[in-house]
Amino acid sequence: MDAMRIKGGVRLQGEVCVSGAKNACLPMFAATLLTDQKCVIKNVPDLSDVRFMAEIVASLGAKVSNPKPNVWEIEAKNISSRAPYDLVRKMRASICLLGPLSARMKRAEVSMPGGCVIGARPIDLHIKGLKALNCAIETEGGYLKVDARRMKGANIFLGGRFGSTVTGTANILMASVLASGTTIIENAACEPEIADLCKMLAKMGAIIDGIGSPTLEITGVPKLGGAEHTVLPDRIEAGTWIIATLATRGKVLIKGAVKKDLGALIDILESAGANIQIKSKSDIFVDGEGLKLKPVEAVTMPHPGFPTDLQAQLTTLMTQVSGISIITERIYPERFMHVSELGRMGADIVREGPSAIIRGKTPLSGAPIMASDLRASAALLIAALCAKGETFIQRIYHLDRGYESIDKKLALLGAKVERISDSDLPSF
Ligand code: EPU
Repeated sequence: MDAMRIKGGVRLQGEVCVSGAKNACLPMFAATLLTDQKCVIKNVPDLSDVRFMAEIVASLGAKVSNPKPNVWEIEAKNISSRAPYDLVRKMRASICLLGPLSARMKRAEVSMPGGCVIGARPIDLHIKGLKALNCAIETEGGYLKVDARRMKGANIFLGGRFGSTVTGTANILMASVLASGTTIIENAACEPEIADLCKMLAKMGAIIDGIGSPTLEITGVPKLGGAEHTVLPDRIEAGTWIIATLATRGKVLIKGAVKKDLGALIDILESAGANIQIKSKSDIFVDGEGLKLKPVEAVTMPHPGFPTDLQAQLTTLMTQVSGISIITERIYPERFMHVSELGRMGADIVREGPSAIIRGKTPLSGAPIMASDLRASAALLIAALCAKGETFIQRIYHLDRGYESIDKKLALLGAKVERISDSDLPSF
């Protein structure tokens, strides 16, 4: 297993390129199962989650290849409709096989994903949506078994007490593109990754109105064809670079940071006094030099609100800002695994229900710390960059799930980072 050694105290400086969006690629790989023709997906980040999704799709019988860096070709001529536990349990996003398999094979058996370190992650809305599409569903032996022979379009309100669902929307969308008649998904997730999935489906021949809005109207077609699609840049990676630049008081041009996908974060940071310059549709320059930020109050919400996937990183930034910040998590109220590790580095954060109350500014000092999930790891990494002395982050495979070449990108910005194996860790 790998760990990362970070020598803190360096201002990030230079230019960084944002990779393709992980959370768009995963459902897109599943979408290739909707056709027997070849799909080509470009700008795919080289991440363990992506390679894993490729493995699952291949295990179902699709021909999968990675002919060039960041390009994947998938041809799903003959596929099976059963996604076994051994594969599904390793990655929650494999639940989005349910929609395409139901639509194409008229039946699906997908192992139910388990719990997750960021909190309970139910799939009741996925099931509600498929039932509304007239599918019969039963659970047996830990599997969801879908009989989709009588699938037909319907009006579906796809929301629960936490609002819309991203992979739930992807699933019902991918099921309905081949369902007879018209489907209307109300309260659909508006995340840019869903809009990008819609664009790829449209290239495959799907008829979708309202792309990017909370109401998607899908007119079912009997068959889809192959397509070529370039994945949009990862807004969460871009947001992480914006925050890391401010936290280290650096100066970085972020290429592939799309302003319209980052509106809520930019608004919060500008209200704190950050200097964020929009250079073009997809380039943002962040100048953190000499900056004195103000504390913030932020609440996570579905898009276009402030994303839960940037909550942990913003928390770290606010440990470096004088005053009291309050960050409230409304999507995953238990997603605070980073808080205790940040505390070990010197942060003063108290949890109060779904909120973190951060008293800044506290100096951070390097320490051996443990990554617990993808975004918490990013928050710890930012803390390590700001800290005095050396930090050793263990279990960085979490980071590798979502940030392509993170150590190389950091090194290009001047950070002192080194990937080491666990056996080279000093004794603490
Ligand atoms: N929810 C339900 N019932 C459902 C589905 C969801 O109550 O059937 C609740 C969830 O418990 C949560 C909220 O609805 O409170 C939103 O969950 P959603 O379904 O939108 O999450 P997801 O699709 O499982 C995706 C991303 C996550 C990201 C969330 C929220 C992918 C592969 N994953 O998960 O990304 O945090 O949306 O934006 O797209 C990450 O990249 O680190 C990550 C965890």
